[in-house]
Amino acid sequence: MHSNCPLQHIVRLDLFVFSVVPITIALICLYSRYRWSKKPVVIVASLPEIVALLTPPESVDMREALKAHAIPNLPLVRAFGITNTFSTDDPDVHRAFSREARSVLSSAVPNDADWDAFAQVASETVNRYILELHRPSRSDFTTFSRVITFRIVAVILFKVDPSLLRHEDVDYVTRGINELWALSTTTTTFRPGLLDGINVHLKRWIPQYSNPIDFVLPTYETMWRLIATSLAILHKDVVSRQTLADFLDNPLRRHFITYPAQSASVESIMKEILRIYPPTRGIFRAVQEPLLSFLPPPLSQFFTRTIVRAAEIGYLQRDKTIWGPDADVFDPMRHHPKRCTEMQQRSMLGFGFSSLKCVASNWAPHAAAIMVAAILERVGEDVQIVEGPRIGGREGWDGWRVVSVNCQSEWMRSDEKAQECHNPKR
Ligand code: HEM
Repeated sequence: MHSNCPLQHIVRLDLFVFSVVPITIALICLYSRYRWSKKPVVIVASLPEIVALLTPPESVDMREALKAHAIPNLPLVRAFGITNTFSTDDPDVHRAFSREARSVLSSAVPNDADWDAFAQVASETVNRYILELHRPSRSDFTTFSRVITFRIVAVILFKVDPSLLRHEDVDYVTRGINELWALSTTTTTFRPGLLDGINVHLKRWIPQYSNPIDFVLPTYETMWRLIATSLAILHKDVVSRQTLADFLDNPLRRHFITYPAQSASVESIMKEILRIYPPTRGIFRAVQEPLLSFLPPPLSQFFTRTIVRAAEIGYLQRDKTIWGPDADVFDPMRHHPKRCTEMQQRSMLGFGFSSLKCVASNWAPHAAAIMVAAILERVGEDVQIVEGPRIGGREGWDGWRVVSVNCQSEWMRSDEKAQECHNPKR
């Protein structure tokens, strides 16, 4: 073709339109996706926004709703190898897992009268632990809370023989679960052999499941933190302790919900702890957002990005516009039907909302109250809780300890001293 042929410009223009422009758009899209993938989680903190986020639209089928739920749990899949409803968009897995979880709860306490047997197991487990208290590794508050919670959950929900639950093994498993959870958000590399080591114990204790951690995580992991927080708040609260002591003698539903004269019910005490310190502070959903929002809807649907939205339950449950200026103050009586507003009731979302709400939302506060009551019965008698500067969550319990009352010495001492303490020289 001759160098100054006019067709040449047309060909160049074509080349430009059909190759350079699409490549540029593709690069912009890729860059935007990369940039957005670095974007932190988007926080959602008002009641209407949280309700909207946790309620799958009618147009969305169950698989889509489960996908939105599972994507943010990818770090837990990597850390723990979970295969339950928290990790997949498969509606069959969801159905089977929720059914099994409900069945575990109802076989643990088939009838209201069976809360008595639950209370007995809880008290026996605590007493057994207190008897073993001279061992050096049992001094810190989180070990105390984790090991007792795990033992009770294992015996009650998974029918584990208590004699199989050696302290060293339960401590290894519960400490390991904490380590994996803490690391899961920041890395994909974990201590070699740790998960395998945890699974060896879990499979020995709970052989009825092919992957027992699927059941251990939703049951034990939230419960131990509720127990720890409850102990931290209540161990010096004389009135609540008396209410819980009475409840331990008669742990039925009616007693759980009844307000004794002028004072808080056990249910309201647990609600208030769950309000101020919800074990699940954020509930996450992956959602599709238009990437180029200036485009009209038919076009914009081709340019979307997946982001994670976090329903900030921890914030909502302390929101001063809902709970008043004393929102941070522990006051169980605020849940009394005469005081609690409709808005406040709707803002209690520690167990989630809508179709994926926790199956244990009624069971867990009742069970936790019995466990806390059984522990508090021995606090002051045999052990004392020493406070640290602040109440923690999964971590952050620096300074908190449990010390033996009789020996007036901490559990963290040599076995020799412990021997002396338990067999004092006359
Ligand atoms: C204090 C204790 C507990 C708290 C705070 C808690 C919290 C939650 C929350 C917030 C969700 C919803 C997650 C989401 O929407 O993404 C959930 C779901 C679930 N929880 Fe719990 N939970 C507790 C105890 C338990 C226990 C003891 C069980 C035992 C069976 C359990 C079984 C489940 C199951 C199976 C689901 C999934 C429900 C579904 O996908 O349909 N939880 N939990």
